[in-house]
Amino acid sequence: MATAEQIKSLIRSHFSDDAERFFTMALQVAAHEAGQGHGALAHEIRDIVDKARKKKGPVVLKFPVDIKGLVLSEEPELSKATLVMPAFLEQRIERIIHEFRQLHKLKNYGLTHRRKVLLIGPPGTGKTMTARILAHELRLPLHTIQVDRLVTKFMGETGAKLRQIFDLIQQESGVYLFDEFDAIGGERSLDNDVGEMRRVLNAFLQFIELDTSDNMIIAATNSPKLLDRALFRRFDDVLYYTLPEPEERKRLMQNVLGMFLPRKFVWKDVLEDSKGLSHSEIDQACRDAVKEIILKDQQTVSDSLLRQMLQERQSAHTKRKG
Ligand SMILES: Nc1ncnc2c1ncn2[C@@H]1O[C@H](COP(=O)(O)OP(=O)(O)OP(=O)(O)O)[C@@H](O)[C@H]1O
Ligand SMILES: [Mg+2]
Repeated sequence: MATAEQIKSLIRSHFSDDAERFFTMALQVAAHEAGQGHGALAHEIRDIVDKARKKKGPVVLKFPVDIKGLVLSEEPELSKATLVMPAFLEQRIERIIHEFRQLHKLKNYGLTHRRKVLLIGPPGTGKTMTARILAHELRLPLHTIQVDRLVTKFMGETGAKLRQIFDLIQQESGVYLFDEFDAIGGERSLDNDVGEMRRVLNAFLQFIELDTSDNMIIAATNSPKLLDRALFRRFDDVLYYTLPEPEERKRLMQNVLGMFLPRKFVWKDVLEDSKGLSHSEIDQACRDAVKEIILKDQQTVSDSLLRQMLQERQSAHTKRKG
């Protein structure tokens, strides 16, 4: 057994938040055990340390200082199975994944894989989620560009930042998401200077056209105002997201409620009450219902409780619109 001192040091190094020190201590314990003839235990400890060390830390990119705060990087752990959408849209996403995975095969024939994708649809229907899933499925980091921060009052500055981002896209592999793309050109544009935003949009279109990397570039927006033909032409794929139909709403609720869904559950009114809500709102209503029963020490969510939560979301929805 490890000595009392070793155990104390191990605990101290754990709380010192110094991972390397902790690993060193653990390896010392392993060495001590080996010395005592406990080879199997020593081996097990070393194995645990090796595995923990191999675990990847946060993604760190060599960003130029100017754009550091504009790009968020992550390695999402989100599988396709969580996404609820109509079959035709699922197939389009499958095709993007499929082509990307075999890009070299396509290259041999002078063809390029689908990699510039525009996602359009109402809030909370899975656009950002899709980008995260694509990154996960392709085992690539996701770099999200905060478009609203990118756009400054000064066109020259915005253009320079865009250039740096596209330089980065040339160098670093990943999925690049221009989220809330409507900050360029939509109503939210700074000073409502439409002419200026148009120029930013044009600069973006030029950059995306000139981009020859293998990386995936996704733009997501809920403003159909942006949709002019110049934009369409630059993307290999344009996917339209919509509010969920009854069948999708049911699938989504089944997914989120999981083991909290009772055997006896009347869907008809639940489906009626969820009409017009986004995936995100339905997801939240389900979570609200689950929280409620957990706090009441109940086992399952009744249809009447879920209806109540959905109606709450509906009224928030109406108020926001009104
Ligand atoms: N199609 C979907 N299937 C399953 N869950 C979904 C779907 N769409 C949204 N959700 C749930 O809602 C959350 C928010 O969705 P997401 O951020 O992808 O919406 P969005 O389309 O990007 O909205 P916005 O236009 O406001 O950015 C997701 O994290 C997920 O929990
Ligand atoms: Mg989004």
